[in-house]
Amino acid sequence: MGIIVGVNEGRETAMSVHRQDQLEFTSGSPQHTESLGRLLGQLLQAGDVICLSGDLGAGKTVYSRGIGAGWGAEPPLTSPTYNLVHEHRRAVDDSRLFHIDCYRVNGPGDADSIGLDDILDSTATALLEWPERIQTVLPSARLWIDILDGGGSQRHFVCQACGDRYVTLLARYRQLAGRSHHDHVDSRSRGLMDYSKKSQS
Ligand SMILES: Nc1ncnc2c1ncn2[C@@H]1O[C@H](COP(=O)(O)OP(=O)(O)OP(=O)(O)O)[C@@H](O)[C@H]1O
Ligand SMILES: [Mg+2]
Repeated sequence: MGIIVGVNEGRETAMSVHRQDQLEFTSGSPQHTESLGRLLGQLLQAGDVICLSGDLGAGKTVYSRGIGAGWGAEPPLTSPTYNLVHEHRRAVDDSRLFHIDCYRVNGPGDADSIGLDDILDSTATALLEWPERIQTVLPSARLWIDILDGGGSQRHFVCQACGDRYVTLLARYRQLAGRSHHDHVDSRSRGLMDYSKKSQS
């Protein structure tokens, strides 16, 4: 069991973390979402699969843009709605990051036609919007993030780690994001919260 520090409406709260495979937090602005994405992007490794689920306009692409920036993507991430798959590289090494929009992908047959199997079998990092469209072809080990529109500029993030690699990734994200909220200047935004304790009670 670990301790994290979160910020809830201006008050700092230390909380026990009972579920190492879950993390929840709320963003109060697109900039906040992007900065939280940037922190995750810094932690990604070859072969990681990150699934971003949420309704139209939830903030998947805004969050992805941050993830891409943190990873070091060239060119910067934009919405892959029309091309479905965008391939990115970075200056520091040979890694590739694929940003995929599955909104118009209907099942495994379609997934084949955009080369999804090859992407998932490769050492590339994969970032998927609308992953629920292709559930059956996704690896069971992954980080799944649901983004819920809380009204106005509030977006609630629910992260679920499936598999050891992603539990480790989430632990590092929790640490990094928790620390960054000490420096976060947007007092209108609620910071990182870990609600996992709630799900235990
Ligand atoms: N806290 C927030 N985080 C992210 N986006 C926000 C937030 N508040 C407002 N927004 C707005 O919500 C919209 C999110 O758009 P975005 O393209 O990221 O959604 P999406 O989930 O990728 O949608 P789609 O399924 O159409 O691809 C943007 O217009 C953004 O400015
Ligand atoms: Mg999008």
